[in-house]
Amino acid sequence: MSQLSTNHLLGLDGVPREDIELILNSTDTFLEVLERPVKKVPTLQGKTVVNLFFENSTRTRISFELAERRLSADVVNFSASTSSVSKGETLLDTARNIEAMKVDMVVMRHAAAGACEFLRTRCTSRFINAGDGSHEHPTQALLDMYTIRKSLGTLEGVNVCIIGDIAHSRVALSNIFGLVTMGANVAVCGPPSLMPRHIEKLGARVFTNVDEALGWCDAINVLRIQLERQAGASFPSLREYRNTFGITVERLDGLAKPVLVLHPGPINRGVEIDSEVADGAAAVILPQVTNGVAVRMAVLYLLGTKTE
Ligand code: NCD
Repeated sequence: MSQLSTNHLLGLDGVPREDIELILNSTDTFLEVLERPVKKVPTLQGKTVVNLFFENSTRTRISFELAERRLSADVVNFSASTSSVSKGETLLDTARNIEAMKVDMVVMRHAAAGACEFLRTRCTSRFINAGDGSHEHPTQALLDMYTIRKSLGTLEGVNVCIIGDIAHSRVALSNIFGLVTMGANVAVCGPPSLMPRHIEKLGARVFTNVDEALGWCDAINVLRIQLERQAGASFPSLREYRNTFGITVERLDGLAKPVLVLHPGPINRGVEIDSEVADGAAAVILPQVTNGVAVRMAVLYLLGTKTE
């Protein structure tokens, strides 16, 4: 199969294994392009991509923009804080006006879950969700999965534990969907107050003790506490959180086998992860960022050149 089954990437929920495999395999090719002295291919020449960011972002926005430019697409950046949104324009009006300028693809981040799906059904461009509220962030999960696959050789049968603020994390949800589809064994670990009810129904095992979780897994994906999405305090203090769930050198040193350490960023050093771990030999946090550009190139290429 050389084409995706879908015209948009809104999430990994329901995305078939063949599609994920196609994206991950294509990523290998684009990662190789990134190693070249001239990191550019003409694949999306003549296509226009708009980055529609209604929520703050550093890594994801820059990563998408680099991916688009390295595929030779024309790129337009929109950020809500400097746009007519602050003059009261609706989401749909903003999108329709941008589309009227003849864009081919829209990469979108929004604080509301479902915002990307809302516009997708009302516009004609191809959409990529770059994070919608606490819902999904598919390209982050794809780059996490790609990084695990590259480091450990496979996703099939690999034990992956996502640790932290599961309830507010679109990264957690997209990872669970994708990893389960790819045959990994998935677990989540965090304070019960930050654990969505019925999460086991998605195929994830739940650990409340981080040392048990670490003893079980081959790879951990450490999440930040989403302070901006928390309605009230879900644990007594950040210090207590670190003591109970923080990934420290002491915790990792006590393990029988090494664990691969991922973090989607931004890191709150000394809270969910200590600097010695984040900068240590087991961490693949910066390779994740590099792989992210290649994964996004693969997604943009596959959606941007899809024929029907
Ligand atoms: C994540 C996000 O925005 O959902 N970051 C990212 O995309 N690199 C995770 C986070 O904000 O903690």
